[in-house]
Amino acid sequence: MNLKHALFGVLVAAAVMPALAQKAVEAPGGKFAKDAEQMFRASFKAENPKYWMTRLDQDETMKTCQQYRDNPPRKVGEKLEKLNAATIRYPVDGKLIGDWKEGEKLAAVGTGGHIGFIQPDPPGRVRGGNCYACHELAKKELAYGTIGPSLHHFGKVRGNSEDIIKYAYDKIYNSNAFSACTNMPRFGLHNWLTPEQITHIVAFLIDPESPVNKD
Ligand code: HEC
Repeated sequence: MNLKHALFGVLVAAAVMPALAQKAVEAPGGKFAKDAEQMFRASFKAENPKYWMTRLDQDETMKTCQQYRDNPPRKVGEKLEKLNAATIRYPVDGKLIGDWKEGEKLAAVGTGGHIGFIQPDPPGRVRGGNCYACHELAKKELAYGTIGPSLHHFGKVRGNSEDIIKYAYDKIYNSNAFSACTNMPRFGLHNWLTPEQITHIVAFLIDPESPVNKD
């Protein structure tokens, strides 16, 4: 085999391999997906508390995002965003900004609702926003994830107008109202955080006295 043949071989391989790889990816909702879901469900049964099973049920947003691998066509995404926006509820007194000190505590709490086999949380264990898992917020907390953008100086940069306060509240309550298939959890939707708790986290982001904006 001379150099020309070898090069030709490489070119053919480069052209054919993506096509083969494409074939190996199954269309959403196909047999492999169904088998995988069944296996997943079966592994949750037996002695586990019943409420764990409900965590496997997907609503329309989750199903649609899964179907489109988190990248739905614009029209479909807009429909999901509207659907999620319609779920947002406000505190009875209508005040969307609370106490940043409470918000600071809630943002840092990462417990509550863990299911699994090693150390599940007992029902009723205190739960919070776990915001640092994905965002930088107050400078003094050094351990934070970077899946989401830095929120350090959020209020300092965006200001504290009513629009920004409402945006922060709505975003925390139901993030998918703004970005159909975002990775950010929907904290208000299933009452993971109460509307009042969300107002405290809003204050943590926006209040000029909060360490998010001070340091
Ligand atoms: C699992 C990761 C994750 C967690 C936990 C999370 N977020 Fe996010 N967040 C994201 C991602 C990803 C984005 C960017 C995409 C988007 O806007 O949806 C985002 C965006 C945001 C934005 C919009 C930023 C902007 O520039 O407009 C705000 C505000 C926000 N998050 C606040 C919070 C707060 C407060 C908490 C805790 C209660 C939190 N997030 C928890 C992943 C997360």
